[in-house]
Amino acid sequence: MSKRKSTCTLRRMGQDGEKIVMVTCYDATFAHLVEEAGVDAILVGDSLGMVIQGHEHTLPVTLDDVIYHCRAVARGCSRPHLVGDLPFGSYQTTVDDALRSATRLMKEGAVQAVKLEGGEPFAEAVHRMTTAGIPVMGHLGLTPQSVHQFGGYKIQGRTPSAAERLKHDARCLQEAGAYAVVLEGIPAPLAAEVTAELSIPTIGIGAGIGCSGQVLVLYDLLGLNDAFNPKFLKKFDNLHQRVVEAVGNYAREVRTSDFPTARHSH
Ligand code: KIV
Repeated sequence: MSKRKSTCTLRRMGQDGEKIVMVTCYDATFAHLVEEAGVDAILVGDSLGMVIQGHEHTLPVTLDDVIYHCRAVARGCSRPHLVGDLPFGSYQTTVDDALRSATRLMKEGAVQAVKLEGGEPFAEAVHRMTTAGIPVMGHLGLTPQSVHQFGGYKIQGRTPSAAERLKHDARCLQEAGAYAVVLEGIPAPLAAEVTAELSIPTIGIGAGIGCSGQVLVLYDLLGLNDAFNPKFLKKFDNLHQRVVEAVGNYAREVRTSDFPTARHSH
């Protein structure tokens, strides 16, 4: 049986007030590193569209893309809880399509759960998936697949009616069987209120301290992109600079014939 942290572990952590640490990562090497660092959960997010594929947003990402990266991450670690993101277009069309996509992601991606964006309109799909044995993580607030609907990456839930709608969506997801919900880009007091109201854990990104846990994209928290500096992001290192320096040193030594030396030759 898998040694991975389960949906039950995450729920228990949420109930006990033990913070859940989640990162988004996309490959075996980083999966191994974040496992060693002791993260509780890895999300193979459709943010791979920007971070790995160089797109402007997540919309072009396909289910095959996510499955490919999920398999790589699954091979790279054995203990963190593993969640695969359902990409745009793989679950919005019909409930049957949603169930088919989620089934593929579980079967071929070797993940333990799927994540989807949206609230009440997807409650039936969440219910069908959970009934079929597929754990579902919800995602509310600044849901990136709706960037065009929002007219940009704008903080959500700011007005009283938007806040009420978000709370209602969170309740719908919980009632439909979701085991956790990501809260992205919403005011901290609203996220704290949702967290207090739900019995399932919330995982925040740009949603303040009052969530049951936090998620950041690994490349962001490592500071790999010096041009990406949103307010919610804390860079825990500056790998952009360190990578440029390291590769620059390599290039210089190749050009000056200082590398390889006898020690690196057979
Ligand atoms: O795609 C992703 O990485 C995400 C997280 C940032 C929550 O959805």
